[in-house]
Amino acid sequence: MSEIRNPAYAEAGVRKIDWAASHMPVLQSICEDFEESRPFEGLKVAISVHLEAKTAYLACVFKAGGAEVYATGSNVLSTQDDVAAALASLGINVYAWHAATEEEYRHHLACVLAPGPNIIIDDGGDLVNMMHHDFRDLIPGVIGGCEETTTGIIRLLAMDRAGELRFPMMLVNDAEMKHLFDNRYGTGQSVWNAINKTTNLVTAGKRVVVAGYGWCGKGVAMRAKGLGAKVIVTEVDPVRAIEAVMDGFDVMPMKEAAPVGDVFVTVTGCRGVITPEHMLTMKEGAILTNAGHFNVEVDVAGLEKIAVRKEMRRDNIVGYILPNGRSVNLIGEGRLVNLAAGDGHPAEIMDMSFAVQSLAAKYLADHRGEKLPMINRVPAGIDREIAERKLRFLGAGIDVLTPEQETYIRSFDL
Ligand SMILES: NC(=O)c1ccc[n+]([C@@H]2O[C@H](COP(=O)([O-])OP(=O)(O)OC[C@H]3O[C@@H](n4cnc5c(N)ncnc54)[C@H](O)[C@@H]3O)[C@@H](O)[C@H]2O)c1
Repeated sequence: MSEIRNPAYAEAGVRKIDWAASHMPVLQSICEDFEESRPFEGLKVAISVHLEAKTAYLACVFKAGGAEVYATGSNVLSTQDDVAAALASLGINVYAWHAATEEEYRHHLACVLAPGPNIIIDDGGDLVNMMHHDFRDLIPGVIGGCEETTTGIIRLLAMDRAGELRFPMMLVNDAEMKHLFDNRYGTGQSVWNAINKTTNLVTAGKRVVVAGYGWCGKGVAMRAKGLGAKVIVTEVDPVRAIEAVMDGFDVMPMKEAAPVGDVFVTVTGCRGVITPEHMLTMKEGAILTNAGHFNVEVDVAGLEKIAVRKEMRRDNIVGYILPNGRSVNLIGEGRLVNLAAGDGHPAEIMDMSFAVQSLAAKYLADHRGEKLPMINRVPAGIDREIAERKLRFLGAGIDVLTPEQETYIRSFDL
C-alpha cells in the first residue's frame, strides 16, 4: 500500500534512481553484501529522509537486506513525485507527495510508523518525535534509530537530557564520513546549484552573506568564493568567527551585513537569524535563502506580516514588497534551498552519508536484544570501512605504517 501522487510517473523516477545508484559505488557494494547476509530479515524499517533519488536507493538497499520498508519525505518541498512513484513500483511502501500540506505531511509520517517499525531512519527528528508522542505503545518493538542531520541530533540530545528518549539512536551526522563531506562539500555545491538554477543570475561580484560558519556554512562560503562572490560571514561563536576571518572572509553582525548583502544564505540550525528588521534595511531585490534544516532561520512568518504585497517572480521565487517600497526575493519558501529548489547533494557525496546510515542501521540490527546506550556515536570502524571502500572506488591508494612507525608514533621515544 502506498500513497503517492501518480503511479504513472514511475518510469522517470526509475531513471533518476538508476543514475544516482550508478554513482554510489560504496552503497552498491554494501547492497551486494546485504543481499548475501540479509541483516534486516524480518525487520520493518521506517524512513523519513528527503525523498529524492539517492534516498530512494537507500530504501532499496534496506529492502535488499531483507527489510520491509516504509518511506516518506522529511520536507514537503523536497519530495519528488516521480521518485516516490518509482519506489512504490519497486515494492517499497511510500507515503509522500510534493507540496503536501502540513496535515498531509504529518499523516504520511504516521503512515510509516503505524505498522510498528523496528528501525527508524530519521532526518531532523520528526519521526522519532512522533513515535514518542503518538505511537508510544509501539515503542517496545523499536530496536533503535539513526539520525541524519545536525538539527535532529540537537533535538535528540535534548530529549535524552530530559530523560524522554525511549530507544537507542545512532548519531549518523556526527560520523566523520558524514559531516566532513555531506555538510561541507555536499551543501556547499548543492546550495549554489539550486540558487543559480532558480535565479539564473550571476554570483561573481555579488556580496553573499552566509549566516553560520559550521560544517555547512564553511562549504557554502567556500563555493561562493569560488564563484567569484565577496563573502561575508555572520556568527555567534567567536572561534568559528576567527576561522572565517582566517579563511579570508569578512565577519560582521547580521545588522551590518543586511544593508550590503545581495544574496543571503542562512545555515545555522537556529531561528530568527534574518528578521523583518533586517529585511527593511536590505537593498532592492535582495535574495533570501535558507539551507538549515527548518524553515525558521529566515523569519518568513514575520516577512508575511510586514509585506504589503507578494508576487510570484519565477518558479520557486516569491517577491515580497515591503512598506518602504523595496522588495526582497524569497526562494523555496525559506525551506532548505538545495532540496526545496534543487536536487539535493551530489550522488557521490550521499554515497558516503548513506553508507553510514546503512551500516549504522546494521549495527543496530546486529545488536538487537542488547542494552545499548540511548545515544550512540557511530563506531570508528564504520567510518574507516567506508573511507577504505570509497578510496578504492576513487582509485586512490594510501601508505601503510610500518611496525617501526607504529611503535614510534605510539611512544615518547625519539
Ligand atoms: N541543506 C542541507 O542539505 C543540509 C545538510 C546538512 C545539514 N543541514 C542543516 O544545516 C544546519 C547547520 O548544520 P551544520 O552541520 O553546519 O551545524 P554546525 O553546528 O556545524 O554549524 C552551525 C553554526 O551556526 C552558528 N550559529 C548558530 N546560531 C547562529 C546565529 N543566530 N547567527 C549566526 N550563526 C549562528 C553556530 O555557532 C555554528 O558555528 C543544521 O540545521 C543542519 O541540520 C543542512
